[in-house]
Amino acid sequence: MATDLAIRVEPGGMADLSDVMIAMSDAFDPEYGEAWTEAQCAGILGMPGSWLLIARSGADPAGFALLRTVADETELLLIAVRNRYRRQGIARALLDQAIGDAAADGVEMLHLEVRDGNPAVELYRGAGFVPIGVRRAYYRGRSGKVFDALTFKRRLGVN
Ligand SMILES: CC(C)(COP(=O)(O)OP(=O)(O)OC[C@H]1O[C@@H](n2cnc3c(N)ncnc32)[C@H](O)[C@@H]1OP(=O)(O)O)[C@@H](O)C(=O)NCCC(=O)NCCS
Repeated sequence: MATDLAIRVEPGGMADLSDVMIAMSDAFDPEYGEAWTEAQCAGILGMPGSWLLIARSGADPAGFALLRTVADETELLLIAVRNRYRRQGIARALLDQAIGDAAADGVEMLHLEVRDGNPAVELYRGAGFVPIGVRRAYYRGRSGKVFDALTFKRRLGVN
């Protein structure tokens, strides 16, 4: 549950939403329209099967992952790490925890969508996700520009 930088990855809940929003506003470039509002996060977290992992350095929120499990599939809805904490393995630690937790719950497939061109694609490929499709004009950025989404899947229990 911890990296060698004393980052802790823990389950979160509604009480952690203010910390989630600190990471959200720091991590996402508004240009691309990927970030969620607090109301959107609260709405999802209130739904059955939704879960949150939060990474902290002491009390300081470093990043989070928001997921939703339906039957034997889990969707990674969002993952974000604040700029000052990047390239230290925190997103990978969140992802590994999510994969372990989902597998322990009997989930067989993890899937996600990511903006075409987002460097997070490298994170997902490195964690064993494979591309399965494209959703055209899935994201709408601040200036009205639209961006395709790539869909990735990772079967659990297999690297
Ligand atoms: C994507 C994001 C979560 C990565 O967080 P992170 O903690 O810096 O990632 P990690 O340190 O765990 O990276 C693990 C590996 O992923 C890849 N990776 C991560 N960020 C990368 C980048 N900007 N460019 C290329 N590869 C990257 C690398 O292979 C990296 O390993 P390395 O550092 O040994 O080369 C972070 O950049 C972020 O919050 N971005 C904005 C939010 C976002 O777009 N989220 C994804 C869509 S929901």
